Amino acid sequence: MEFTIKTASPEKLRAGVLVVGAFADGSLTPPAQAIDKASKGKLAQLIKRGDLDDKAGSTVMLHELAGTAAERVLLVSLGKAADFSDKAFRDALSSVAKALSGGVAKDAAITLADADLPERPLAWRLQQISRVIADGAYRFEAPKAGGKDGKKERGARKITLVIGDKVNAELEAAVRRGQAIAEGMALAKDLGNLPGNVCTPAYLADTAEALGKQFKFDVEVLERADMEKLGMGSLLSVAKGSHIPPKFIVMHYKGGKTKAKPVVLVGKGITFDTGGISLKPGAEMDEMKYDMCGAASVLGTFKAIARMALPLNVVGIVPATENMPGGNATRPGDVVTSMSGQTIEILNTDAEGRLILCDALTYAERFKPACVVDIATLTGACVVALGKIPSGLLANDDDLAAELLKRGTESGDRAWQLPLWDDYQDLLKSNFADMANIGGRYGGTITAACFLARFTKAYKWAHLDIAGTAWVSGDAKGATGRPVPLLSEFLIGRAAGKAE
Ligand code: BES
Ligand code: MN
Ligand code: ZN
Repeated sequence: MEFTIKTASPEKLRAGVLVVGAFADGSLTPPAQAIDKASKGKLAQLIKRGDLDDKAGSTVMLHELAGTAAERVLLVSLGKAADFSDKAFRDALSSVAKALSGGVAKDAAITLADADLPERPLAWRLQQISRVIADGAYRFEAPKAGGKDGKKERGARKITLVIGDKVNAELEAAVRRGQAIAEGMALAKDLGNLPGNVCTPAYLADTAEALGKQFKFDVEVLERADMEKLGMGSLLSVAKGSHIPPKFIVMHYKGGKTKAKPVVLVGKGITFDTGGISLKPGAEMDEMKYDMCGAASVLGTFKAIARMALPLNVVGIVPATENMPGGNATRPGDVVTSMSGQTIEILNTDAEGRLILCDALTYAERFKPACVVDIATLTGACVVALGKIPSGLLANDDDLAAELLKRGTESGDRAWQLPLWDDYQDLLKSNFADMANIGGRYGGTITAACFLARFTKAYKWAHLDIAGTAWVSGDAKGATGRPVPLLSEFLIGRAAGKAE
């Protein structure tokens, strides 16, 4: 998809579709006013008649509107003017994206950047538009008999973003950022959607290496023997039941000054989670192919930041393995020694995410990080607590937590903080090791994070539980690409020197 920004009178624009926004109470954005005038009051009339719903995102397609050069005008509701918000703006963009990706027009001109949102500058609006529209064109190329179904070619591919102001480098950069984030999301979605027999640890490693080659950053892949040497007994205990080898992937993006401390991202890469000997129930187990979406979000974010050429140092770590039952698999009750030296009694082999993350978090110490953020589809309890709207956020540093919450709101990919109080630590008590890997029935998201907190004392650290946000179930089943927008926005902020 190709984006250009242009200062133009909307009624004169030649395009397959011209997108204009209006509030349900009849107030028109400046571009809609221009179209209304050119069409001798057609838009106002239509709204007055009640054709445009007051739900943000509802649309009306008008064909060959008099006085307008575009073939079609897509009128999109911005909801009630008094309720106009980030959400209404994004709802409008999402339905525009849907209409454009499913429509026949090959090109479109979008005027929504001039919908005035309080406290959201033009650059922010442009970044959101390019991100949501580009992301809306995503299609997973499912391997089906008969080969490609040609879907990739459908929909608008050339997008003009029409603004009233003059175009400048800052606005251009905002559009590119949105596109880069959508590209990162597409990679994360592809990886999440691929089945466990294709998206293996080796596949993740190959993807990382290909990215490194494309964008010229270093990628290391550690093998089982390397992990043994490092003493990653916890990670390896998860890999034991699988016949396919685990991989430990480390990516080094060096956009910043040589000596600048890196931000480290750690992504859970369980390419399929059966639960192991503590086997999961059969229903919907297929969805556990998305248990590598933390890893996918790290890879996707690397693609986005490399595309943006962010001036920042970032290390990406992906511990990758399957969690399978088998004759050699770890048993409940087994005690293992983590890379940190702390011992773990594995009471439930299905609490495997924390077992691979803890060794990756210890490994992260060697980079003397500015901070570490891990991303993991860690607990079903997070979905119970927060639903599928925000990711769960827990942190050992309040400034870092606040920064991530802020970037979440800005990007529309939000998180919500849960307490990481020491009071919960008692729940991890074991009679046979330094800790157990589960904390009982209640507060599962918090006890999982408390487990990780025992391995992150050397640096500022935050944990994102994306069990609810990385995946949509039901008819639209598939990976969401979250939290690539949040992580990208966080790193954009860091690169701009806006840490706390
Ligand atoms: N990958 C799952 C968490 C999960 C559940 C992600 C549902 C997405 C949707 C994780 O490895 C797991 O199995 N967690 C257990 C922990 C429990 C055994 C303490 C869970 O949440 O049930
Ligand atoms: Mn599990
Ligand atoms: Zn898991």
